[in-house]
Amino acid sequence: MSEIVYLNGEFMPMQNARIPVLDRGFIFGDGVYEVIPVYSRHPFRLPEHLARLQRSLDAVRLASPLAEPEWTRLVHQLIERNAPEDQAIYLQVTRGIAPRDHAFPANAAPTVFMMSNPLSTPSRKLVENGSSVITATDFRWLRCDVKVTSLLANCLLRQRSVDAGADEVVMFRDGYLTEGSSSNVFAVKGGVLLAPPKNHLVLPGITYDVVLELAAANKVPLEVREIAEDEVRRADELWLTSSSREVLAITTLDGHPVGDGKPGPVFKTVYRAFQDFKRRIMRQAA
Ligand code: PDD
Repeated sequence: MSEIVYLNGEFMPMQNARIPVLDRGFIFGDGVYEVIPVYSRHPFRLPEHLARLQRSLDAVRLASPLAEPEWTRLVHQLIERNAPEDQAIYLQVTRGIAPRDHAFPANAAPTVFMMSNPLSTPSRKLVENGSSVITATDFRWLRCDVKVTSLLANCLLRQRSVDAGADEVVMFRDGYLTEGSSSNVFAVKGGVLLAPPKNHLVLPGITYDVVLELAAANKVPLEVREIAEDEVRRADELWLTSSSREVLAITTLDGHPVGDGKPGPVFKTVYRAFQDFKRRIMRQAA
């Protein structure tokens, strides 16, 4: 757990951080967040994470309490104040403290909270064997492109996979693939990488963008388009991507093997490219 956190202008030990019960983040889940992976003390794609934060703030009509250079400075300060070389910075902004009323308060100051957790990426065994997922109907709202802290639907869906002994839940809406409860999902068929388009039904993942760039750089044929449920069930390969899972093969879907049940060749190409890319970035930052 985070040793030192940031709350409303101050760094402090986690156990000293306190939020009033009327914070709208607590009462309504009225807030937005980011999770930024940090490798060897270097935040990965920080400008892109901060740009997405700004888009989330705009979408929920919350004025950013800090300008981009200040966010950048705070993220670096939090990294310095915590011990692990590899961290996951969690950053949350809520609409602040006000008497309970659905309508926005006129003058509440946003609450800004940041913590650092050790970054836990998939074990070598998980990378080599792949993950198992179950599927579910996506019953979330129609603004899944906004990274809001109200994640009850995602939590309910994720728990189904825990109850089934699986690693993640892959969702379909109206017969088409959307994403995982906390990850984007890719498919491969006949050597072609298929990616669901970034629209209001999925979170525009930072890792998703990196994977598309690496696929292009490695000449992997790519189609960004809606992917029907039966294409997912007949795919040669399926992958999950997120800031903590990086790129992870799915080898079991609803108890059935995906392809031959092992991480596939296209996965291996992109996984290797992702690890090389990370190392390159860390060398540049050093
Ligand atoms: N989750 N889709 C959803 C619903 C997510 O919650 C996430 C990330 C992603 C992948 O986005 P990125 O590549 O930018 O991490 C896709 C974070 C890690 C979380 O909530 O902990």
